[in-house]
Amino acid sequence: MDFKQEVVSLLSSQIEDLTSEEILEAIEVPKNASMGDYAFPCFKLAKVFRKAPNMIAAEIAEKLESDAFEKIESVAAYINFTINKSAYAKQVVEKVIVLGDDYGKQNLGDNKKVIVEYSSVNIAKIMHIGHIRSAMIGNSLARIYDALNYDVVRINHLGDYGTQFGKMIVAYKKWGDKAIVEKNPVDELVKLYVKFHDEAENDPSLDDEAREWFTKLENGDPEATELWQWMKDFSMVEFNRVYDLLDCEFDSFAGESFYSDKMPAILEELREKKIVKKDDGAEIVDLEEYGMPPSLITKRDGSSLYVTRDIAAAVYRKKTYDFYKNIYVVGAPQQLHFKQWMQIVKLMGYDWADDCEHVMFGIVSMEDGKMSTRKGRVVKLEDVLLKAKDSILEVIEEKNPGLENKEEVAKQVGIGAVVFQELFHNRIKDYVFSWEKMLSAEGESGPYVQYAHARACSLLRNIDVTDVSVDYSILNDDASMEVIRHLSKFEEIVVDAARKYEPSIVTRYVTSLAQAFNTFYNANRISDQSEDVQAARLALVKAVKITIKNALHLITIQAPEQL
Ligand code: ARG
Repeated sequence: MDFKQEVVSLLSSQIEDLTSEEILEAIEVPKNASMGDYAFPCFKLAKVFRKAPNMIAAEIAEKLESDAFEKIESVAAYINFTINKSAYAKQVVEKVIVLGDDYGKQNLGDNKKVIVEYSSVNIAKIMHIGHIRSAMIGNSLARIYDALNYDVVRINHLGDYGTQFGKMIVAYKKWGDKAIVEKNPVDELVKLYVKFHDEAENDPSLDDEAREWFTKLENGDPEATELWQWMKDFSMVEFNRVYDLLDCEFDSFAGESFYSDKMPAILEELREKKIVKKDDGAEIVDLEEYGMPPSLITKRDGSSLYVTRDIAAAVYRKKTYDFYKNIYVVGAPQQLHFKQWMQIVKLMGYDWADDCEHVMFGIVSMEDGKMSTRKGRVVKLEDVLLKAKDSILEVIEEKNPGLENKEEVAKQVGIGAVVFQELFHNRIKDYVFSWEKMLSAEGESGPYVQYAHARACSLLRNIDVTDVSVDYSILNDDASMEVIRHLSKFEEIVVDAARKYEPSIVTRYVTSLAQAFNTFYNANRISDQSEDVQAARLALVKAVKITIKNALHLITIQAPEQL
């Protein structure tokens, strides 16, 4: 039952001069709860009814009756509706329990195709803590869109192409040692890459050599291709370890190199449509009219660029997937890049450029200021995840040494804590990584929410009241009603998070649900109560357990049953 809709249909039966839409629009939610849950002002009816608004309110209120409301009364010119709490409780709690794992899922998408591109890391580079942002915002958006019945395609647009691979090949051939690299591949390659830059400062011919090797790679030279493939393969082994820890999934790893053979056709098209112009041997698109600097499409040596690859990728995705929406989860510093290429796609005559969305985010920094990619001081994402797990394992060993599958639970809680912190803030905000806040069992943290879930599980395990019919009037107290109001909002929350591309909406919601649940738990005893009271409260506990688990799933956090 939709209570607001019920107000509309009750009023419609008495007020012929207003349409249902007009009535719906006029309904207010009183600030003061003693005035009920909905209020309808009668001022506008004075003309039609030729009576004072107060009298109209009183007369209409008199005639209205419905099981959905425990009170319908007039106060001055308003008709106030107070929801029947038992009916409301029954409606919400039963819906959650019946739907179970499906509570929160809705058919907004009609199976329309949505691409979520995320993570998109550069190969032969270290995956540091900053990389958690695209990975987790993207993975969660994919789950949120999936829950809304969109057909989601998860793409990892790997940074596996570009002149840096020429440099990497030169450095490896000059100073690399296969055995050493294979032992610790990404770290060693990064070292070689740094060395290349140091050496190239004094010896510019190295840059020429690097360019030659990249051209070789573009032309399919076997040695260049083999070295590049080798770097790519071992990078993927490292990345996949992290993706496994984070439960990140992808349908496609079509990255930048995938588009190398699709570039000539795009360049051809850009020339034919007279969108590019020559500029000192290079080709550019003038974007002054759109308030942006020109975009470089090909370099003087003819090699293609990042922008061009993104245009080729977008065109390919439209052809291959015919997407309804094409989402890019990429940091805010690339805003201009995305604006530029999307404008170019529009200039090519493709309206679907408007269906491409750059979902950007701010920066994560470490409390002790330890992070600096340029200075080579990086905090590896994998190390952070494993350290979080170890810290939780220590706590478990101390507080609950008898727990089954300790390792697994520690992983779920430790990594969940990192992910929770990542997805708690509005994505555009910069945030400071805090070990202390993150691992705290109090306040706004992953462990706090997981603990609330585990508490619900344990209540349900300990007392068995199946097959007792529930008297929902037992849930009329404030603390229970607050939990019920939270539960009823979940579906709206999922839609809102999708519309705003904002997983933090779900994170904040589940935190506030867990808080409301803990207040309920402290205010209402469950053990040593009559069977009726137990049954009603446990029904609520069950609905909470389901909703927390479903919400955590959307933000890629596990919900262990025992901690
Ligand atoms: N690999 C790029 C980087 O690390 C991000 C790629 C973003 N995606 C895209 N389609 N351009 O900066």
